[in-house]
Amino acid sequence: MYETFDDTLLSRLNEPVPRYTSYPTAPVWESTTPEVYERHLSQIAKRSNPLSLYVHIPFCKTMCLFCGCSVILNRRPENEETYVNYLCKEIELVSAAIGGRAPICQLHFGGGTPTKLTQDQLERIFFKIVSAFPLDAHAEIAMEIDPRTVVEDEGAKLKLLKKLGFTRVSFGVQDTNAWVQEAIKRRQSLEVTQKTFRLAQSLEFQGINLDLIYGLPFQTVATFRETVHAILEMRPDRIALFSYAKIPWLKPHQKAIKEETLPSTHEKFGMYLAARKLLLGAGYVAIGMDHFALPGDELVEAFKAKTLRRNFQGYTVLPADDLIGLGITSIGSVGDGYFQNVKELSTYYQLLDEGKLATFRGKILSPDDLLRQWVIQRLMCDFAVDKAQFQLKFGTSFDGYFHQERERLKPLIDLGLVSVDPVSVRATALGILFIRNISACFDRYFHKKEGPRQFSKAI
Ligand SMILES: C[S@@+](CC[C@H](N)C(=O)[O-])C[C@H]1O[C@@H](n2cnc3c(N)ncnc32)[C@H](O)[C@@H]1O
Ligand code: SF4
Repeated sequence: MYETFDDTLLSRLNEPVPRYTSYPTAPVWESTTPEVYERHLSQIAKRSNPLSLYVHIPFCKTMCLFCGCSVILNRRPENEETYVNYLCKEIELVSAAIGGRAPICQLHFGGGTPTKLTQDQLERIFFKIVSAFPLDAHAEIAMEIDPRTVVEDEGAKLKLLKKLGFTRVSFGVQDTNAWVQEAIKRRQSLEVTQKTFRLAQSLEFQGINLDLIYGLPFQTVATFRETVHAILEMRPDRIALFSYAKIPWLKPHQKAIKEETLPSTHEKFGMYLAARKLLLGAGYVAIGMDHFALPGDELVEAFKAKTLRRNFQGYTVLPADDLIGLGITSIGSVGDGYFQNVKELSTYYQLLDEGKLATFRGKILSPDDLLRQWVIQRLMCDFAVDKAQFQLKFGTSFDGYFHQERERLKPLIDLGLVSVDPVSVRATALGILFIRNISACFDRYFHKKEGPRQFSKAI
């Protein structure tokens, strides 16, 4: 069925659309102050629902040309030591604002490259967190890891993570082809990836995830198949299959990737389809827009039970309603608001020196935002929205509230991407590949063209 896609149709659907790790999306957020954030933190202090914590470590030794993350290139260890000291200060301030809160059910370290820090620094941050916040005995504790940073010490850092109680590790692979790696300036031999994977396996982490990206320079369907085959030999519990998000206006280093080396939309889509077929054939279950997991994995169970959630780290099974971000650029979701920390180290340090939290922008959600957030979240996680559930949750009729959206969905219905009946709005088998386009029909800001159109393309 997928092969019937013609190029005109592909280019029509390949418009810039949000990835909906939040709704409303970041470009329409407004400036806010540390005081507003502090008030929000104190409002959730008495809540008994579990909490999720994200810690951002921005440093990397080299810059991968495709990278869309919030990264600081750094080769001076003293800069990292300073950052760790300020991070500990921020943890103290946040924990003072939030008081004795319900335990953390999810602790996620992302970056950048958290494992660029020394063992001592990682331990200090970890103990600072667990002394400031109670940690649930079954908490998911995860770290994003560049394999190249944990092989050189024969696994000593991985062993430390295991000793501290980390349950999940996520390794960046992207592509195993040497030519592609050269073009993206990420040289990582398959041996390094395999060795790291085996080390993590021998330490018996509860879960190991590998990240791949399609749409990179010099990739072809054939080379990307080889990458997927190499990954399948390791058989990780989860595989993230990301579409290369090209956002050079935000990440100028991406301009170093020459346009003519990139695959066409048709080829890029072909890579996704080929990889998807191989992964499904190998027994993986497709979850959400870009994840694959082995049967029995809790992501699969949550997908089946329709309890999957999406947050800034991607898909999750955990029940936390509030997420606290720590470190520069980190984003939190607290009560009815999103809050983001400042992006420059100097401002981060200055605010913390003044005894203030480091928030600079965010969004307090209106009743309309909250209701659309729920619809978009269900579409991104379940590929469907149940109209009766909506009515039960918000006390208003789905069809009555969204008659304009029904019009917006019409072209996608005609293309066979989505079906609408009295019970639900549901993406078809083909439509789940374009779930961002379907979700965007419910995005008020997207259609009013509010905020800069800073999104990567759908394919
Ligand atoms: C923040 S990185 C952290 C992992 C670690 N620094 C590494 O590179 O191995 C997490 C993942 O984001 C993905 N990523 C980064 N930039 C991307 C982009 N422009 N498009 C799609 N995925 C991207 C990569 O797959 C990467 O492994
Ligand atoms: S992909 Fe990972 S290692 Fe490469 S620049 Fe981005 S965060 Fe750093």
